[in-house]
Amino acid sequence: MDKISELRAEFEKKLTQIADLVDLDKLRVDYLGKKGSITALLKNMKALSNEEKKTFGAEVNRLKGYAATRVDEKIEELRKAEVEREIAAMPQFDITAPANTARGSYHPITLVQRQCENVFRSMGFTLEDYSEVVTDYECFESLNIPKFHPARDMQDTYYLDNGQLLKTQTSAAQNAIYRKYGPRLIEKGEPIKAVFPGRCFRNESTDACHENTFFQMEGVMVGKDISISNLIFFMKTMLSEVFQRDIKVRLRPGFFPFVEPGFELDINCLICGGSGCASCKHSGWLELCPCGMIHPNVLREGGIDPDVYTGFAFGLGLTRLAMMKYGIADLRDLNSGLLNRLDQFTGEW
Ligand code: FA5
Repeated sequence: MDKISELRAEFEKKLTQIADLVDLDKLRVDYLGKKGSITALLKNMKALSNEEKKTFGAEVNRLKGYAATRVDEKIEELRKAEVEREIAAMPQFDITAPANTARGSYHPITLVQRQCENVFRSMGFTLEDYSEVVTDYECFESLNIPKFHPARDMQDTYYLDNGQLLKTQTSAAQNAIYRKYGPRLIEKGEPIKAVFPGRCFRNESTDACHENTFFQMEGVMVGKDISISNLIFFMKTMLSEVFQRDIKVRLRPGFFPFVEPGFELDINCLICGGSGCASCKHSGWLELCPCGMIHPNVLREGGIDPDVYTGFAFGLGLTRLAMMKYGIADLRDLNSGLLNRLDQFTGEW
């Protein structure tokens, strides 16, 4: 029995010295483990009589139970102490400090995007949203860009293991839009008029007017007798609403497999006034909004008969539009968080 009391006192003494859970677990193993000191007491009972074995065994089991409870209590105590230490290490907040009244503000790209959305909505266009991860079919094949077409070289992108890709152009939503609104066009004669803004990705060398991640806004109109004049009207209206003043633009032929004829709509660089600078690659002009009449193959792929219907499409570079509108010389600043005081752009919204 002395042995049991001795062991209990020794265990208690050691327990008070424990300061963390690792040491506590070692102590538990030392006393309660298979080869632990308390368990060992039971192994030394051979020499005892049956009666003695009974009382001794009961005492050892009581010690065992006691030690296990003490270990649990210690775990609780150590955990509590740990939480208290963490709380004490937390920064102290002064709840009487005056509130920070600075207001959040919209990003310049959000501002021009909303402005364009409003302009087109006021002209009867619906606003669509589309995924950033698309299939090869959506981004290329449905747009008359079969596998191995050289036009793909200009739009290398980031591919996922499952073969999907981060979309390189908002045109990737065209097919879905034709499929969604085509039946209404065919059955009720309602023209398809939709804009769909979105983030695009390209594996691109960046410079003052190129980023690997940028925003476009696609627009399409499909119906009977839709012509280039309609396209030019909508482009002009959009630009005069966004800039609220006359700006110089030029329309020149451009090649995109999904339009025929295709155009490049360039804006006279508003950073240098057209004399040439890094923002416009020293040409005085910035490609802003390629457009054209939708290729018959693309309409057909979207379930629309190109012998009956025609349409235009455009791909407005929203990031470049924000750059021109707000006089941001390097478009990379728009992704960098370096625009000091974003609220300088929000006054007019
Ligand atoms: C296209 O992406 C075509 N999908 C546009 C289109 C739509 C043509 C419908 C015809 C009909 P492009 O690669 O040129 O075309 O890009 C369109 C616009 O997006 C450019 O004029 C430019 O304003 C912007 N853009 C393109 N690449 C970048 C880039 N790396 N960084 C910032 N803006 C870019």
